[in-house]
Amino acid sequence: MSTVPFHPNRAMRVHLVDDVAVATSELLLDLVHGGEHLYVALTGGSTPQGGYVHAGNAGADWSGVSLWMSDERVVPISDERSNAGSAERALGEGVTPRDWQLVRTELDPAAAAADYEARIRAELPVNEHGVPVFDLVLLGIGPDGHCASMFPGTDAVTEMDRLVTHVDVPGLEPLVPRVTFTRPLISAATRVVFVVSGASKAAAVRAAFVDEPSVEVPSSLVTSADGSLEVVLDAAAVPTPA
Ligand code: 6PG
Repeated sequence: MSTVPFHPNRAMRVHLVDDVAVATSELLLDLVHGGEHLYVALTGGSTPQGGYVHAGNAGADWSGVSLWMSDERVVPISDERSNAGSAERALGEGVTPRDWQLVRTELDPAAAAADYEARIRAELPVNEHGVPVFDLVLLGIGPDGHCASMFPGTDAVTEMDRLVTHVDVPGLEPLVPRVTFTRPLISAATRVVFVVSGASKAAAVRAAFVDEPSVEVPSSLVTSADGSLEVVLDAAAVPTPA
């Protein structure tokens, strides 16, 4: 690990783990304490699903946790492509959060994004700049370097005014419109944690966290409020030294 030159100027904690599912579960369970009202944004994609299953089976008290999604595919929650639907199924019946804050996918994507932003602004505590603060934003990374639904070349990557926006044509499957957190919202969170697994992600990890940040690689532009961006990855996802 020490031989991998993660970018020296990016304040980032890198956790090399044996099993990303177990680590994802542990980080969720470390946060979940009965009554305390917490705001957690889960991520979609396949990587966190095993972690959600583990966390859901742990018998923890989620009654203080408001669950949101850092991005959503604009499909009904019953659709297998729905990020919230996948997370809800993986967490299972053992998890009864304080509330599940779903993207209103029955609206058109722009309206759904505006509605999600308005609800975030209404519900969450804000920082000194008036930006709502999640306790945790989980993110995955795509092979193209996207995170949430900020795909390279889309306006979502450079959006600095809206906290939530929409993407009509995503860069990767499933090719359905998306609603996504933007960088200003993600960066205000207390913890921003990427979960990454497998050799197919090693090149994206290099582009996002080793090379110079670039607008071509949206994940490379993500920071966190106090510089405590975290990356949880397994050995296969670690890029080999150049
Ligand atoms: C989505 C995601 C997306 C995902 C990455 C990684 O809706 O597609 O939220 O940002 O996290 O594409 O996905 P995998 O974990 O499936 O590789």
